[in-house]
Amino acid sequence: MKIAILTSGGDSPGMNAAIINLIVAASKKKNEVLLIRDGFNGLLDNNFIALENNVLDYYDYLYCSGSFIGSSRSKRFPNEVSKAVDNLVNYGVNLLVVIGGNGSYLGAKLIAQKIQVIFIPASIDNDVTFTDYCLGFSSCCNEIVQQTQKIVSTFKTHQNVVIIEVMGRYCSDLVNCTSQALLPAVLINHETNYKLEEIITKLKEFYQIHHFGFVLLAENIYSSSEIETLRATIEQNLHCAARFNGLGYSQRGATVDCNDLSAANAIANLAINEATTTKDSFAVVKINGNFVKKLFQEIKD
Ligand code: F6P
Repeated sequence: MKIAILTSGGDSPGMNAAIINLIVAASKKKNEVLLIRDGFNGLLDNNFIALENNVLDYYDYLYCSGSFIGSSRSKRFPNEVSKAVDNLVNYGVNLLVVIGGNGSYLGAKLIAQKIQVIFIPASIDNDVTFTDYCLGFSSCCNEIVQQTQKIVSTFKTHQNVVIIEVMGRYCSDLVNCTSQALLPAVLINHETNYKLEEIITKLKEFYQIHHFGFVLLAENIYSSSEIETLRATIEQNLHCAARFNGLGYSQRGATVDCNDLSAANAIANLAINEATTTKDSFAVVKINGNFVKKLFQEIKD
């Protein structure tokens, strides 16, 4: 088999480990592997990289966050899907592996009408609905916890309050999971819907006991002016300084943790083994603690 691999959408820690483990597993079974640079854009621009023997030292990339083959949020799909398929056919590719999130799955599904595709959910947001786990989520949670520990230490010292904004797009998984570990005064996620007074009451109660406070806030809930209103209202009511601290892109570039490194290995081996048993397209998903194959035709949109 000739297998092509691409990473697409926002990068996620563990993507490199998935690529390397796929190459190793595929090569053991005597498959040829091609890498595609910069996601679907690279596929459309014929940006294929052939793997020549011994050129790639796997350990240069295995543990690294990001994607060494690049990624893109392509705006050229669905219009140019037939070009993508033609390019794969011209390179003699029988199987395309797409590693990415929600948007990437939509692209994968279109290509799967013509060529077998394996989709590996990878997104710090953990927002791919048909799997319990997306590669990178655990590493990102660790990054959020580590950064918050540092922020809390200085805010506790100065007896002030901080609003810490966490990524996740429109999904609350990152903020919910890290909140269980960090125990903020207030958790604001996409479901809580608190009034301003309720947030202040919770913060006051927390402040009376702990003499500082922190809010964990999911992104895309408040506009920047609403965040500023919240910050100013906290200062007025708690009589201390209040600051806003968005954790930003270091969350996406988080150090890859043990969970994601071992998940990448399990996912890649399952993907390559299952590819020899079916010609149908499938995703490698985690259900009830186990990685399993899920055929595209079983996935409800
Ligand atoms: O999907 C990953 C993610 O980091 C989200 O958490 C965030 O909302 C978004 O990407 C940011 O995207 P961009 O790279 O376009 O700023």
